[in-house]
Amino acid sequence: MKVTRNGQSKNYRTVSFDKTNNKVRLIEQRLLPHQFKIISTKNYVETSQAIKDMIVRGAGAIGATAAYGLAQGAQIFQGNGIKTFEKHIAKVYQTLANARPTAIDPINAMQTMLAKMAGQTVENQKSMALTLAEQFANDDVAYCQKIGYFGEPLIQNGAQILTHCNAGWLAFVDYGSATAPMYSAKARNKKFHVFCDETRPRSQGAALTAWELAQESISHDIIVDNASGHLMQRGEIDLVIVGSDRTLGRTGEVTNKIGTYTKAVLAKQHNIPFYVTIPLSTIDWKLKSGLEIPIEERSPQEVLRAWGAADSGRRQSVSIANPSSTARNPSFDVTPPELITGIITPVGIFKPKELWKNRAKLGFNNKKLNHL
Ligand code: MRU
Repeated sequence: MKVTRNGQSKNYRTVSFDKTNNKVRLIEQRLLPHQFKIISTKNYVETSQAIKDMIVRGAGAIGATAAYGLAQGAQIFQGNGIKTFEKHIAKVYQTLANARPTAIDPINAMQTMLAKMAGQTVENQKSMALTLAEQFANDDVAYCQKIGYFGEPLIQNGAQILTHCNAGWLAFVDYGSATAPMYSAKARNKKFHVFCDETRPRSQGAALTAWELAQESISHDIIVDNASGHLMQRGEIDLVIVGSDRTLGRTGEVTNKIGTYTKAVLAKQHNIPFYVTIPLSTIDWKLKSGLEIPIEERSPQEVLRAWGAADSGRRQSVSIANPSSTARNPSFDVTPPELITGIITPVGIFKPKELWKNRAKLGFNNKKLNHL
């Protein structure tokens, strides 16, 4: 996506790979919107830590980062012993898979790679890992473009759209899922306005989505998380579009950033269409109930404090809560299928409960479920 700084525009991917130095290159998302910086992780442990610390975040982006991390881990293996290689790669896989538990994309990305690498020599597996990671990243871009193609007609000229968290290009390799229909509508010269939920506690909407939309000159306002009900009641929201970290192919339940469920209930109450956008790598074909989805609980400090930049530009964390109080910080929630109007995928729009019926079209691969 195009980033303009000091009057100069340049295209960036959120995640890329430096083959010469075996490093994963990432946009340091914690510094946005105040500073734009690319960092490199020099080994798979650092790559996993970057996912955990949310230097890179968003389901598609951490999927591509884990894929590159697996390739990065494969490259450092010395020797030809297949058993020792398999042991090594299982450790690399586990380290990356454990970084964040809710999004399925890292698991799907790495398991697809491992299934394709299986049975090859060590040398072949090492080179295949790089090619397959690159393929995952390229597929992610293509999937998001397709989501834009199928989602764009939903945006009427003059529409007012609500989105939650950041399901933009920073949450993927490029384009984004929830933002892809918006970028396509913009390309068709449609006029529309986006409300970005602030998305406490980490403010992905205020910091990241708003920055992306500003880069693309898309009209938007940041609103506090609790304002959307009021705006819906006054007829100021026509459409809700969000992303997902894990969508259950069997039930149509959608996991996304905490607060998404609340928006879906409000949208239902006000008869406002509520759409979820997903690339194929976000579908979990295995779990049978949303209650089985591991919901990440992050540090209470994220709730008790807030990060920002002082007028001097210095980034700092400030205390915002009563010092003796404790906090809970569940990071994601699950929206039931009956609250969802449609799921926009790279192969078309489906009712949540139609995913299973259309599983062949949506990339379901029975073999993958048994791997690892
Ligand atoms: O905790 P984050 O910032 O990784 O959460 C991101 C979201 O919840 C996005 O909405 C989600 O990843 C869907 S779009 C990839």
